[in-house]
Amino acid sequence: MTDKRKVRKAVFPVAGLGTRFLPATKAVPKEMLTVVDKPVIQYVVDEALEAGIEHLIFVTGRSKAVIEDYFDIQVELDQTLRERNKKAEIELLEGILPKAGTTSFTRQQAPLGLGHAVWCARDLVGNEPFALLLPDMIMKGEKGCLKGMVELYEQSGGNVIAVEECAPDQAHKYGIVGVGDKIGDGFKITKMVEKPAPGTAPSNFFINGRYILQPEIFPILELQERGAGNEIQLTDGMVKLSGEQPFAAYHFRGDTYDCGAKDGFILANVAFALERGDIRPSVEGPLKALLQSLQ
Ligand code: UTP
Repeated sequence: MTDKRKVRKAVFPVAGLGTRFLPATKAVPKEMLTVVDKPVIQYVVDEALEAGIEHLIFVTGRSKAVIEDYFDIQVELDQTLRERNKKAEIELLEGILPKAGTTSFTRQQAPLGLGHAVWCARDLVGNEPFALLLPDMIMKGEKGCLKGMVELYEQSGGNVIAVEECAPDQAHKYGIVGVGDKIGDGFKITKMVEKPAPGTAPSNFFINGRYILQPEIFPILELQERGAGNEIQLTDGMVKLSGEQPFAAYHFRGDTYDCGAKDGFILANVAFALERGDIRPSVEGPLKALLQSLQ
């Protein structure tokens, strides 16, 4: 029977080296870089909470302790804000503090790949389906990407992967899925290929960094050999799991910003700033003037 148990837990693998964002990431995890005034990880956690996730599991690495601190109370700051009666700031911090006992942290001791980072969360996830959110990808849509996936999962059960369309000549850069029968806001997946050779991709739907997976992925990842880049690859594990369990794709219709890359990060800052009533008036004019000056 296809597993449709509720998705209660979300895994955030934050143990990567972030080499595309050096030198900033020498001392600051890329997940803590700010988009307007919030760290990237906050946007991704908010997406998980919007989808009904109850427990947040972070797979961290060395020099990522600041992420754990961010999701805790900062006692001195809290005290000072109270002494100064800074009500708005106190409320802001209270609003983003996870409830006691709803976060867990484990360490990936060496960055052996995304598949390995996910496997490190196996005991914290246990024997139940879970969401996996790549914490450097920010999704902006009318409905959160994971929320849409959970709705599809309630129909399809099994495993669900979010996909978006790319230009066909760009498909070789991504994990690509084959398109089967329509289901909800997506379709059944017929196959998965990581970075297909140019001209061989089964479609132009690429895997965008959000997953709902069944716990049977863990024993597969445990046995897994190194794949592309000499890393333990999640996609290789999913390809094996798809031999035993159904996979559906959720077609996310919104904007995705890869904040692990400089261009995606800058675009995210501009897009989110222009949505903010308190910031747009002072940046829109200068931005337009800047673009015009380049013409
Ligand atoms: P990326 O390849 O985008 O992240 O992995 P990276 O390795 O940190 O970045 P670059 O390429 O060097 O700039 C996708 C996600 O998987 C996590 C990363 O933190 C990122 O969120 N990851 C990757 C791990 O947690 N552990 C790993 O061993 C590899």
